[in-house]
Amino acid sequence: MTKKFLCRVAEIPENGLKEVAAEDGEKLLIASSGGELYGYQASCPHQEVALCEGLYDGSVLTCHMHLWQWDIRTGEPMGIAEAPLRKYALAVEDDSVFIAAEASALDVGELFRGISAPTSEKLMALARSEQHEAGAVLYGPGDAAEDFFILDSGRVEFVLGRVERTAPGGFMLNKGEVFGWAALLEDYPRRIASARCLEPSVLLRIRGKAALAVLEEDPASGYLVMRRLAALIARHLAAR
Ligand code: FES
Repeated sequence: MTKKFLCRVAEIPENGLKEVAAEDGEKLLIASSGGELYGYQASCPHQEVALCEGLYDGSVLTCHMHLWQWDIRTGEPMGIAEAPLRKYALAVEDDSVFIAAEASALDVGELFRGISAPTSEKLMALARSEQHEAGAVLYGPGDAAEDFFILDSGRVEFVLGRVERTAPGGFMLNKGEVFGWAALLEDYPRRIASARCLEPSVLLRIRGKAALAVLEEDPASGYLVMRRLAALIARHLAAR
């Protein structure tokens, strides 16, 4: 991907925050800290709240809604926060700020970020890309759970259990987020949630058993993924 223009450097307050939109409409939060710029997802990973409205002291960002916090240099959660911020690589050229390059959906998401490069490559080799229209139902409770998905672009709503909804009300998933994770659990052959596209979306579909076989070959990466998967499931269950 070619780099995408975001804004002028002068538009970002020193040790402050600014929400910007790339040419294709993708929104980012840019934070200035000690003369460096950091790019993150614009909305809180907890609920749809603009992070630019949060509290920021130049090093720690606090969402004003439920006080989740992050280290602005890494995006890692602090205190009661349960999920990291999705980070974007930025490039500064002359007086302009760009998204430097697009990381793969596997790399930006919480579940697989930081796994070894060979394991990441093997997982990507298993992935099949799919496009779906807005409103497409990807699966519902009781469906066979053979594959899991990584959202590459677009937006997906994920709802645990059998809940009738006429408007979005579950978890709003963004790029890199994993859903359909029952396919990564032993003895869970059926879906326990539903997922539908809120806008045209591109997904990576990966067979759960094949991914588990790859992770078993790399115990350090496998342990990292399983630890994060446990935290992800706990967070979804706690929010029901
Ligand atoms: S919406 Fe940000 S912490 Fe809850």
